[in-house]
Amino acid sequence: MLIIASSNGAIGIDQAMDALKNGGSALDAVEIGIRLVEANPEEHSVGYNGYPNILGELELDASLMDGRTLDSGAVALLRGYPYAISVARQVMERDIPHVLLAGEGAERFAREIKAEQWESMLTPEIVEVWREGLEAVGATQWVARQSDKIPEITDQTPLLDWVKLATDPERVHGTVNFIAIDGNGDIASGVSTSGWAWKYPGRIGDSPIIGAGNYADNRYGACACTGMGEMAIRAGTARSLVLYLKMGMSLGEAARQAMMDLRDLGGDYIGGMNLIALDRNGEHVGMSSRAGAIYIYQTASMKSYQECERDLVKIPGRWGNRPLD
Ligand code: GLY
Repeated sequence: MLIIASSNGAIGIDQAMDALKNGGSALDAVEIGIRLVEANPEEHSVGYNGYPNILGELELDASLMDGRTLDSGAVALLRGYPYAISVARQVMERDIPHVLLAGEGAERFAREIKAEQWESMLTPEIVEVWREGLEAVGATQWVARQSDKIPEITDQTPLLDWVKLATDPERVHGTVNFIAIDGNGDIASGVSTSGWAWKYPGRIGDSPIIGAGNYADNRYGACACTGMGEMAIRAGTARSLVLYLKMGMSLGEAARQAMMDLRDLGGDYIGGMNLIALDRNGEHVGMSSRAGAIYIYQTASMKSYQECERDLVKIPGRWGNRPLD
């Protein structure tokens, strides 16, 4: 039995391992671990109290994959429901032929299955951080109008310029990854995020996109990503890594190659990327474009998790025509 997770999964990994030890499945462990991160008000890149979009609304993305069958469930742009991972699991497990539900449809589904709904998804402190974040990049007038509702923000209000200004690349890092191998040797992987701070309404990252931010296949292994989701979507990162395993690479080679694919991306917007992965033998690895980044792991015989440093693959960042440090 093994669980690996991004470092912000520390709050949930013990209970996830307890679930495995009590006979729970890899899917159970991944869901339990991620729910604890989604409910953590101190974590601002996942679930409740995450950083909102440019309109101050929290839109959550999540996905779950079952390595036995490659069955998957995902939700995107979910508002008002903190446990996006559980709604994603229900998309997979209810008798419906869909994999990904987004926006109003995802919310309708969550309501139908009676998912836990919270009236308020943001603390006043985070609303203040959002307001200050926009002010700091010169959107003050716009924020003032938004606060006073004079004029009301309507569907016609242009947001494009403000999104480009207000998106803070430093806040791109976030998202939670959990990958588990249970007592039967079955693998499951899950990802949940509130996405970029101040994103354009309707922006969907890699987390709910099977093959981009999340992939699990019992026969080979699994991979999950954090970082600038647009890059993982473009490179098909999680699926690429598992495919490299299928083609005979070692886990280390497959992970490095998946990161090199990200480094090869062209275009004007390139940020930080990270992944964790394991193979069917229980070897695990973490990679990051940032030096000193860590991930965590726990086996059944360990009392608590241990940290591992991720291998570094530098990806020179750029933002428009300006290099990122
Ligand atoms: N990797 C999470 C996101 O880009 O939304």
